Amino acid sequence: MVSAETVDFMTGILPVLIRRNCMSIASVKPLITVAGASSKQGRSVAAALLASGRYRVRALGRRADSAPMRQLAALGAEVVVAPLELGRQGELTAALRGSHGAFLMTPPTTPVQPPDQPELALGRELADAAQAAGVQHVVWSGLENVEARTAGALWVPHFTEKALVEDYIRTLPMRSSFIYLAFFYSNFLEYYVPQRGADGSLTFAIYLPPDVPMPFVDPLTAAGPAVLEVFDHPETYAGKSLPVIGEVLTARQMVDTFVRVTGQKAHYASAYTREELLQHFPAFGQNEYLVRELVGMTQYAVEYGYYAPGRDLEWSRKVDPGALTWEMFLRSNQWQGGQVSYGAPPSALE
Ligand SMILES: NC(=O)c1ccc[n+]([C@@H]2O[C@H](COP(=O)([O-])OP(=O)(O)OC[C@H]3O[C@@H](n4cnc5c(N)ncnc54)[C@H](OP(=O)(O)O)[C@@H]3O)[C@@H](O)[C@H]2O)c1
Repeated sequence: MVSAETVDFMTGILPVLIRRNCMSIASVKPLITVAGASSKQGRSVAAALLASGRYRVRALGRRADSAPMRQLAALGAEVVVAPLELGRQGELTAALRGSHGAFLMTPPTTPVQPPDQPELALGRELADAAQAAGVQHVVWSGLENVEARTAGALWVPHFTEKALVEDYIRTLPMRSSFIYLAFFYSNFLEYYVPQRGADGSLTFAIYLPPDVPMPFVDPLTAAGPAVLEVFDHPETYAGKSLPVIGEVLTARQMVDTFVRVTGQKAHYASAYTREELLQHFPAFGQNEYLVRELVGMTQYAVEYGYYAPGRDLEWSRKVDPGALTWEMFLRSNQWQGGQVSYGAPPSALE
């Protein structure tokens, strides 16, 4: 039974409390949790969200003390240890709790013998954790389904498994959006590093034929603006799959641009076929699945197109007109052709 005193309390104090709470709720910025925050993509997303001043950011990673995580903390992120590893759904759910949104991605994953699908398994766990934590909007870093697009002719698990995660996320009762990053410029700085010959010139062994235009991007500067745009306009991008591209250019143009920007001698060599890939990168031969995947990926991109027909290839440049072209990337990084580790670059976010 409700007493007179209670009624007074409810009609007098309660509306004031509700008004106060509403004001404080309205003034709190939405929290976005970034999984894999120390990655190139994750760093970019966390930094862009923080720089907007419109979001709080929780940065998840396997170490709180790595240089990228310390840099994110200095920018204002809340750093939480929660690795991108299978079997950690409870930790991930706890780490995602209280978040309005989440950016989810998978680390580079070594391909394994079918039918195991480790990236699909991790992606599903991340999605389940987000749903269990009550996240309202997930942005998943995905790619096209190569198996579907090639009717099973080509095996590229790091594309297809991301697409299967997307299919799974779409079944969950939360808003979702998907970004598809182009080939990374940084692949040539991290993995396919040009070799210097005795005469001092560089050989760029590139996994693409010389004259086929391909989409490329700098994940460290382009992922953030794209994801910020999505969280800023959640209804516009609900259910959308969005390519993120810096520039479409050929392998030969990449080498020619490098020569023009750096003044060094360099030439293109093909690492497109299996034999050429192994000739230039013999260490890849230690894992037959890796070779199959790399050869399948490049064949897929050349014969079917990196993106499925109908994707909006202009979108990311419209929302981020300053996205780096290859030339801008070379100039801003002052790259001279050596190997670069993105694990702990002190100036990556500066
Ligand atoms: N390369 C391309 O051209 C390209 C194009 C489109 C999409 N992708 C996709 O992009 C993703 C990689 O993104 P990225 O290059 O931004 O990542 P990245 O810079 O290589 O960073 C990898 C991240 O994963 C974490 N990590 C690595 N191994 C781990 C492990 N065994 N257990 C737990 N955490 C681990 C790292 O944590 P620490 O900092 O602690 O090491 C780091 O946060 C991959 O899924 C790839 O398929 C790549």
